[in-house]
Amino acid sequence: MEHHSKPLGTYKIFLIGFMGSGKSAISDYLCRNYGMEKIEMDQLISEREGMPITEIFARHGEAYFRNLETALLVELRDKENAVISCGGGTPMRENNVAEMKKHGKVVLLTASPQTIYDRVKNSHERPLLEGHMDVAFISNLMEQRREKYEAAADLVIQTDGKDQAAICKELTGQLMEWEKQTCRQ
Ligand code: S3P
Repeated sequence: MEHHSKPLGTYKIFLIGFMGSGKSAISDYLCRNYGMEKIEMDQLISEREGMPITEIFARHGEAYFRNLETALLVELRDKENAVISCGGGTPMRENNVAEMKKHGKVVLLTASPQTIYDRVKNSHERPLLEGHMDVAFISNLMEQRREKYEAAADLVIQTDGKDQAAICKELTGQLMEWEKQTCRQ
């Protein structure tokens, strides 16, 4: 891909999607190619708390972690020219979704349960999948989340069988198209 300094303008892009949908990889790619700031919510929360996400869940519980996510979204409100890679559960709270939609473009990355499983099967960084690392569990949790993911999304990019360059090309193309349409309204 050619290097463009700022084709995405002052966008703030929220990448959402199931664990292993490629949010981190795609945000890396976008930031490398478009000079945008990269913000990984999980990583930032983990750094600030001084422990991995699994330990935050184990010590303080999921609700504590969810509150940190919500507070972080509010804190990031005024960021511009940034790609924010959300945790897989961030769009489950309605107020998080309202916050994201108000201040940026929400892009949903999707993949089939089998693809997700192949990408995350060797990881132990996801407390919700520990002890449930199988396609059926992933598929079930994905179904439970589907409606909220789709309702949150301004754009949906299906990632199965595509490489990062193709996904980013689709994403930027759709964003430009979306922008044109909203300008015309
Ligand atoms: C979660 C996804 C994780 C992390 C936490 C909870 C979820 O992020 O925020 O383990 O509820 O889906 P990734 O989607 O980056 O794995």
